[in-house]
Amino acid sequence: MKPIILDVDTGIDDMLAIAYATHSPEVKLIGLTTLFGNVTVEETTRNSLFVLELLGREEIPVYAGAAKPLSRNKDSYARHVHGDDGLGGALQDALPKGQASSLSAAEFMVEQARSMPGQLTIIAVGPMTNLAKAVRLDPDFVRLVGQVVIMGGAVTVPGNVTPHAEANVHSDPEAAELVFGSGLPIKLVGLDVTMKTLLPRTSMQEWRDKGTVMSNFLADATDFYMNAYETFSPGIGGCALHDPLAVGVVVDPTFCRTESMPVKVDTTGKSTIGQTYADRNAYVDGRPNIEVCFEVDADRFLAHFMSRVV
Ligand code: RIB
Ligand code: CA
Repeated sequence: MKPIILDVDTGIDDMLAIAYATHSPEVKLIGLTTLFGNVTVEETTRNSLFVLELLGREEIPVYAGAAKPLSRNKDSYARHVHGDDGLGGALQDALPKGQASSLSAAEFMVEQARSMPGQLTIIAVGPMTNLAKAVRLDPDFVRLVGQVVIMGGAVTVPGNVTPHAEANVHSDPEAAELVFGSGLPIKLVGLDVTMKTLLPRTSMQEWRDKGTVMSNFLADATDFYMNAYETFSPGIGGCALHDPLAVGVVVDPTFCRTESMPVKVDTTGKSTIGQTYADRNAYVDGRPNIEVCFEVDADRFLAHFMSRVV
């Protein structure tokens, strides 16, 4: 069982990733770390605690992290995609019983990396701010972490918040640029592969048929997310499993084919801010390689995800 930390901005696809991870015996979820992104950090922390309680896994600790990007202000969220509460309205004003632990997200990452050198996997599916803070906090962090899987970027395909940028990178481009150049052992799961892993609307019926509190909650929340995808891309027929695929490649690395190369982030452009440049020819001087996912066995992943998520 690989020990993992899931770094989340919960969010509907984050919620699906949490459920999938807790039902996967190949990994042991030792904590959730949260940050701003789809909604505020207070809301992503509340949502993360709530989802864990719904899953009956309230013993898994939650650590709150960044409220805003490293060096920018934050004034907009993705409520049009994830709902006012970040969970498609499914919360209906319910609150979790538990609360976040006292360490910050970055402190928890560093503490765990130190306690098990080379063993810890961090799966980051929100902006990269918590990771960047951990890199800054401890000069040994980069060599102590076993693997970092990041859902972010769009290397060969258009962005999803601008024509050029993917949401998690766009939310804090400086943090992404720092993390990609840090030397952390990174696997990048970007829109190149996640936009090919669409959950079809018919899957909702399977969850409804199951009829548990959890499966109905997932269906209620995911309905909102499906409708958002249909609004932006009429006829798309489903919603992207961005964050679950990042968990998927840890559970079974053969879901995606990767290539190794340096990746840079545009932190200054006006229309291209947050664009990820993967440099197949390694022209960028001295920048470490990261593993970039270019192909996904989408049908096999989808079947695996559906067999475990509820
Ligand atoms: O671009 C998709 C990513 O942005 C996902 O992690 C989603 O949850 C949002 O954070
Ligand atoms: Ca996310």
